[in-house]
Parts: sequence; structure tokens; C-alpha cells
Amino acid sequence: MQRFILALDQGTTSSRAILFDRAGQIVGAAQQDFPQHFPHPGWVEHDAGVIWQSQLAVARQVMHEQKVNAAEIAAIGIANQRETTVIWDRTSGEPIAPAIVWQDRRTAGLCEELRQAGHEALFRDRTGLVLDAYFSGTKIKWLLEHVPGARARAERGELAFGTIDSWLIFKLCGRHVTDVSNASRTLLFDIHALRWDDALLEALSIPHSLLPEIVPSSGIVAGTDADLFGLSIPIAGIAGDQQAATFGQNCFQPGMAKNTYGTGCFMLLNTGTQPTRSRNNLLTTVGWHCEHEADASYMLEGSVFMAGAIVQWLRDGLGMIARSDDIEALARTEPDSAGIVLVPAFNGLGAPYWDPYARGMLIGMTRGTNKAHIARAALESIAYQSADLMQAMQRDATTPLLELRVDGGAARNDLLMQFQADILDTAVIRPVVTETTALGAAYLAGLGVGFWKSRDEVAALWQIERRFEPDMSASEREARLEQWHRAVQRASDWEQ
Ligand code: G3P
Repeated sequence: MQRFILALDQGTTSSRAILFDRAGQIVGAAQQDFPQHFPHPGWVEHDAGVIWQSQLAVARQVMHEQKVNAAEIAAIGIANQRETTVIWDRTSGEPIAPAIVWQDRRTAGLCEELRQAGHEALFRDRTGLVLDAYFSGTKIKWLLEHVPGARARAERGELAFGTIDSWLIFKLCGRHVTDVSNASRTLLFDIHALRWDDALLEALSIPHSLLPEIVPSSGIVAGTDADLFGLSIPIAGIAGDQQAATFGQNCFQPGMAKNTYGTGCFMLLNTGTQPTRSRNNLLTTVGWHCEHEADASYMLEGSVFMAGAIVQWLRDGLGMIARSDDIEALARTEPDSAGIVLVPAFNGLGAPYWDPYARGMLIGMTRGTNKAHIARAALESIAYQSADLMQAMQRDATTPLLELRVDGGAARNDLLMQFQADILDTAVIRPVVTETTALGAAYLAGLGVGFWKSRDEVAALWQIERRFEPDMSASEREARLEQWHRAVQRASDWEQ
């Protein structure tokens, strides 16, 4: 009897495997962290072989620990860190170089060259993205130019490119595929026509033969090699982790949004079956495209660089708290931040500012300022940055936002979530299962094999743990936002 879906959540710092039952509840989980490599300033690399081994190990571990065999697993769903770029030899299955991680800035100059050459509008129009080193396209070009012999081998069709979903699926079953949500983060994909785009490939001098085949986000792709888990298990769900989390939060309708509070924040708003072009510096991206559905779902996306990372800094950089969770108790010892504002622009500001030269700032301190005020200001800064994203989204989108669904580590912080609702003037909803990335991958896979019959069935499984209602006067909210924006202005453009 098939009772479970196995979700593989391959993130930036760890590989996780989570088993879900028919009720969408977690049955068991296993996790392995893996090393990050920083060979030069601004470079971030992963060993793709280690990623695969760690992912396989945690999948086997959770099955072993829960005494679940392959015959009991209806399908595998994969959610992955996005944009991270792997190129491998099709025959040997070996990567030709370390994977270039999404955070890696080595191709910033290449992006500048493309802008100088007048390509910015082409990329923006076709891909919905900005020309930035974040995305895969320039990372592929870099590998082809710097790994000896790579371009010639690519021209001969001997190499394969993939984001982490592609890489894992190739290792699991030998097929070279990706889904639209991952493809939409490469700078090579036309998000309107939902296909690889020759003009973009030409602008980046990337041969078409490198690219994976596009498959649905939900629907059977292939079965895993039988020797990996004892029996073949269908792979039936694929999505980039942020899109998977949006699916896992059941944000199926236009106007529904989620915010994940991790190291940074990723906020995605479902805008429906047509891409919405942002006039406020957000990204347009594909959410998912399920088998047998005519249209894909599109999203507006914004990210902030520092969210949970600010709490880590208070813990490790300043020694103000022993554990991250202690921040809430410390912040609660004062009723407010006594007028101080922390702008956490430690590595510039992301959307909607995109200011790489802004730097961190604490302003408004007096002799009465204490560490509880700073802790509060740190939490508030996470909410302010998210409010800026939400405002930009609201300006771009036509549908009004009714509520914000939240997940990620810092979403456990009640003080932060209440302040988020207050400052947004919107209800903030925290679900029972906050492992929404894995849950989204499980939903996609489960729907893909008929384990769950419809999105309505899935939506009925999703449960709210707590709803935070806004409870701040309009005048206070406006005054606080005005103060925040004044502080951001002062932190802007600091490092020239
Ligand atoms: O775009 C990058 C994002 O997908 C990474 O997510 O959770 O692995 O840090 P995460």
C-alpha cells in the first residue's frame, strides 16, 4: 500500500528528505549539512557530487528510520536551491567543475558587459529577470570560458547543464530535464512562450545542446533507478524551493502571497496565468506548470538579503544572545524600540532598492538605548523590509492582497509576526506545517501520481496554526514607515 510521498529539499546549506502521509503531515525527516566553499572573495561553490551523495543519504536514512520501503512511497517530489549551476559530462555523469552557487558574484562584470552591449531590455522582457550574477546564464558562460576544453566539448554535445533539480534527477534516473520554475531562473528561458530562447542563448554564447528538456512541475518524469532504493519510485514533482513553498502554502489563486523568513526573505505573490511585468524592481517568475493544465502560474518575487541573518549577527557578532530563539524574550523586555531603527544593509539592499552600496546602520540612539531596544529594532527591520516588498508588489499587481502566509525559521517568532501584521495592515497566517518547501514538492508529486486527486483536496489538508491580525493605528503605522524610509535613505549609497 502506497502511504507516503518522499520530498527531497535540496537547500543552500543542507540536504533534507521528509516523508509526508496522506494527511499532508510529516512522518519523519533527515538532514545533512554540507560544506560551502569560498575560494575567492565573492565566490561561492558547492561540490555537486557531495550534494548528490548527501541527498541520497538522507533519503535512505529517513526511509530506514521510519521503516518505510520503496513500495510504500507513491512518488518523489524535488524542491531545490535555485540558480546554482552544474555542468557535467553526459557519459561519465561527473561534474566538470564545482557548482557555482546562486550567491556567487564572479560574473557581475559579465552582466555589466551585457548591459553595455545593450542587452538589458531583451533579458528583462523575455525572462522577467534583471541582468544579475544571481541567475544561471552568466555562470554557464563563465564555466564554458574558464574550464579547459569545456566549450569544445559543449559544442560536440558531450556536456549537460542543469540547476540542482536537473542534476539530482539525472543522478536518480538518467534523464536530463528541468521544470519551468527552475528554467525561469536561468536567464535563458522565455517565460511567455515557456521555452528556451535562441536570442538569449546567442547573447550569452551558450550552445542549445547543453540544455535540459522542459517537463511539467507536476506529472511523472521517470522512475528512479531500481538499485537506489530497492524498487523504482516515480519522480513526479519538481520546483525551485521558493515556488515549491508557495505551492506548499496553497497560494493557488491570484493575490495570494507567502513570505519565507530564512537567512534572507523570499516573498512571492501569485499573479495568475499571465506574467506581470514589474515597474517596481521586482522579478517576474514562473511558479509552476502542472501536467494537463493549459496555463502556467506566474509570480512576482522580491527578496531581502538580511532577515534571520540579523539575528545571527546579534548572536555571533555582538554576543547579545546565546541562541537565536532568545531574541524574542530579550525584545519583549521593552515595550518598543524607543525610536531607534536598524537598517540591515550589511551587504547592500535587495528589492526594491537594489543598492549594492548601502551599508548597515543603527540610528536614533540615546543614553537610554539598551540591547532590548536593539533586539526589537532588528526584528522590526525584518518586517519593514518585507513591507517594502509587499508595497512594491501591490503597486505592480492588480489584485489586492488579503493576507500573507509565512514560513521559515523566523516565522516562529510571535513578536515579529504580530509586528509584521501591524506594519502591513494585513493578516499574517502561520500554518501548522511550516516545512512548506518540502510540503510543496510533496503536493506537486502527490498530485502528479494521483495520490491526491485535486488541489481542492490538498487545500483541505492545509491548516492554520495561528492568525496574526493587524492591531496598530494608521497614524502610528505611517509614522513608523516614514521613519524607516528616512533611515534607509541615510544608509543608501554609503560605500562608493
Ligand atoms: O534563489 C535562491 C533560493 O532558491 C535559495 O533558497 O532556502 O536554499 O537558501 P535556500
